[in-house]
Amino acid sequence: MQKFLVTGGAGFIGSNYIRYLLHKRPNVEVINLDKLTYAGNLDNLRDLEKNPRYRFVHGDICDEQLVHQLAAGIDVIVNFAAESHVDRSIGTPDAFIRTDVFGAFVLLEAARQHKIKKFIQISTDEVYGSILKGSFKETDALMPSSPYSASKAGADRLAYSYFVTYGVPVIITRCSNNFGPYQYPEKLIPLFVTNALENKPLPIYGDGKNVRDWIHVEDHCDAIDFVFAHGENGDVYNIGGGNEHNNLEITDMILAKLQKPRSLMTYVTDRLGHDRRYSLDSSKLAALGWKPKHEFKAALESTIVWYVENRWWWEKLKNGEYLEFYKKHYKM
Ligand code: NAD
Ligand code: DAU
Repeated sequence: MQKFLVTGGAGFIGSNYIRYLLHKRPNVEVINLDKLTYAGNLDNLRDLEKNPRYRFVHGDICDEQLVHQLAAGIDVIVNFAAESHVDRSIGTPDAFIRTDVFGAFVLLEAARQHKIKKFIQISTDEVYGSILKGSFKETDALMPSSPYSASKAGADRLAYSYFVTYGVPVIITRCSNNFGPYQYPEKLIPLFVTNALENKPLPIYGDGKNVRDWIHVEDHCDAIDFVFAHGENGDVYNIGGGNEHNNLEITDMILAKLQKPRSLMTYVTDRLGHDRRYSLDSSKLAALGWKPKHEFKAALESTIVWYVENRWWWEKLKNGEYLEFYKKHYKM
C-alpha cells in the first residue's frame, strides 16, 4: 500500500481528487487532513466515509506537532490546503499568508524530516499574473497581483527551494480555473448557477470581459495523477484546459442552459486589482502525453445539471455568512 497525506481534501478540488485517487489506484490509502474552514465540507466526501482506505483527520496544516505525527509513515503528500478565494484575500489577507505560505512550510519541513517520497504542491496559474496576449510558460517570471496569488507564489517557490536545498522530491502544478461538482458557491460558476436558480442577480465585476481558461476538475485530478507518475522532481507543470472565455460568455452559457433571463445580469464595482486574462502554455505536459479529456461545453452543462440536482448540497451554504461578505464588499 502507498500512503498519501492529502491536505485540504474536504474542499472542492481536494475532495474530487481523493475520490479520483481511491478509484484509480487500488493500492493507495489516503489520510485527509483538513481544518474545515467555511470552504471545507464533509458533505463533499459522504460516499467515501466508510471506505477502509480513507481516513479523515480534522486539523490545521500549520499545526507542526500534528503534521509531524501524521507524516510518519507517509509516502506522498499532496497539498491542496489553502485559502483559495481572491475576493476574501483582498478583505482579509492574513489567513492567506498563514495557511498558504506558513502551512506549506510546515508540510515541507515534515516531508524533509520524514523523507517523503513525493511532495506535490498544488499551485495556480494566478502566480504568473495577468497576460493580455500569448500564454505563460513554466519558465516565465512570476508576477502575482493579489494577496491570494502572492501567497500561492510564496509556497510555490518555497517548495522549489526544498527540492534545490534539501533534495525533497517536490513537483509543482499550476492549473487554470476549475469547475465541476462540489465547488463552493462563491466562485463564478457555482455562484451564478445557484443565483440564477434562485432568480437572484448575477454580480458581474467591471465590464465582464476578464478572461479565464476553464478546466473540468476531473481533468485537473487526472493531470495531478499523471505528473505524480511521469513528472520530474523539481519541475513545474502548467495544467490548462485550453478553454478561454470571458465572464460574459460564461454567464450567457449558464443563463441559456437554465433558460433564465439576461436581466439577472447585474454589473457591480470591479474587484480590486482584477487580473484581466490568464493563459497557460501547457505544451510541456502535452509533450509528456497528457491532455484534458472533457469537452468544455458538455462539461459545463453537466456541471450546471449537477447543481440543479443537488440543491441539498449548496442551499445550506448560501444562507448566511458569504452573502453578508458580498453585500459588504460590493455594491449590488
Ligand atoms: P477550497 O477553498 O474549495 O478548499 C480549500 C480546503 O482547504 C478546504 O477544505 C479548507 O477547509 C482547507 N483548509 C484551509 N485552510 C486550511 C488549513 N490551515 N489546514 C488544513 N486545511 C485547510 O479550494 P479549491 O478550489 O479546492 O482549491 C484547492 C487548491 O487548489 C488550492 O491550493 C488552490 O490554490 C488550488 N487551485 C485552485 C484552482 C481553482 O480553480 N479552484 C485552480 C488552481 C489551483
Ligand atoms: O486561475 C485559478 C484560480 O481560479 C484559483 O487559483 C483560485 O483559487 C480560484 O478562486 C480562481 O480564481 P478567480 O479569481 O479566477 O475565480 P473566481 O471564480 O473568483 O472569478 C472568476 C472570474 O469571474 C473573475 O474574472 C472574477 C469574475 N467574477 C467572480 C465572481 C465570484 C465576477 O464577475 N463576479 C463574481 O461574483
